[in-house]
Amino acid sequence: MNAERLIEKKRDGGVLTAEEIRGLIEGYTAGDVPDYQMAAWCMAVYFQGLTAAETAALTRAMAASGPRADLSSIPGVKVDKHSTGGVGDTVTLVTAPIAAAAGVPIAKLSGRSLGFTGGTVDKLSAIPGYRTALSFEEFIRQVREHGIAMAGQSAELCPADALLYALRDATGTVESLPLIASSVMSKKIAAGADAVVLDVKCGRGAFMKNRKAAEALMEEMTALGTAAGIRVIAFVTDMEIPLGCAIGNSVEVDEAVEVLSGGGGQRLAALSKTIAGAMICAGGKAETLAEGRRIAEAMIESGRALDKLKECITAQGGDASWIGVRPLTPQDGAYDVYAGADGYVEDIRPVELARVVMDMGGGREKKEDDVDLTVGLRLWKEAGAPVAKGEKVLTLYGRDGLPMEALARRAAAAVRIGPERNVFPLIYRMADSREA
Ligand code: URA
Ligand code: CA
Repeated sequence: MNAERLIEKKRDGGVLTAEEIRGLIEGYTAGDVPDYQMAAWCMAVYFQGLTAAETAALTRAMAASGPRADLSSIPGVKVDKHSTGGVGDTVTLVTAPIAAAAGVPIAKLSGRSLGFTGGTVDKLSAIPGYRTALSFEEFIRQVREHGIAMAGQSAELCPADALLYALRDATGTVESLPLIASSVMSKKIAAGADAVVLDVKCGRGAFMKNRKAAEALMEEMTALGTAAGIRVIAFVTDMEIPLGCAIGNSVEVDEAVEVLSGGGGQRLAALSKTIAGAMICAGGKAETLAEGRRIAEAMIESGRALDKLKECITAQGGDASWIGVRPLTPQDGAYDVYAGADGYVEDIRPVELARVVMDMGGGREKKEDDVDLTVGLRLWKEAGAPVAKGEKVLTLYGRDGLPMEALARRAAAAVRIGPERNVFPLIYRMADSREA
């Protein structure tokens, strides 16, 4: 394998063989191919693309760079869930306990926040005592005993992707459809589930800015899953505006608890019920997506989903005693913002709000950065809602030493209030590999 030749071949629009791609990934993972050559190859892919066969070969090579998790000792159909990442996307924290309460074993490995997109592991870390680092044996035992475990993805799972994603993040090559599709699906294959529900985000607050690109990514990932023997139910959903009303780590845990208690933001609740329904269906506990959704609603109404979240938190060493008693987020740094005029919420810009939370210390610019898990913001009015002058629109949860007035001005500017009552779509498309 000659890396320079493979870079030139892709640069000039050629098609690599599966063996060439495997050689490149094995060489990179072993440290024989240096970062600068791998980065140049990624940039060539960014401009030239990959064929379906090349993307499948890349996915297989990355999935094979570490061991595949063996979930066979857990009875039942194991269902994973993945979002391509957005703002206020608390769906995993809501859907995992709903699906587990419905009898679908949930062995969930999640990533950390990066840039303006949140990560489930950081949100879970906001819960006092919660251990996100479980050994594989502990992880499996917990799923067997409690039907659910939510932990951080260890470095052994897909080491090639961990290296490549960090390299892409530093070299302007994240936003490539075949590189995203192979990155996501190699991790899903390595994580060992039988089925996966994919939520492909589309809009200003997502990697994929337009529907055409998001639908192409959805189709590519569905095909990669099917080729690997995994059933895929996929959605393209809106990320023009934030999904939930909470942005930040502990505030998103609070909103997840609210949705599991029958409240929370309407968009987050609606999408969570649909996705949980798809997980229940993929797990063989419902015949149709509609039946799955009805079961998801019943799990919320009966309190069983919230009980399952508490059970998971307790099993992982966390404190669940605050649930139903008080919010997890400390309230002493709260700073409220009020509407300056009557009207409707015409628009909410997701990246601007996520940047405010990052500038309070609630996000990660580089993967080594520390995160303040207690800071965040909460919208009290959803997009399209009527507002009266002087009503509370949002609250920032900051801490001493932050320029709260300036941050609040920026947050307020991201929420446009005017005379128009706009309609905000939520789900654009759905695909089920079983029906393809
Ligand atoms: N999420 C991933 O896991 N990989 C990508 O390349 C982009 C988003
Ligand atoms: Ca970057």
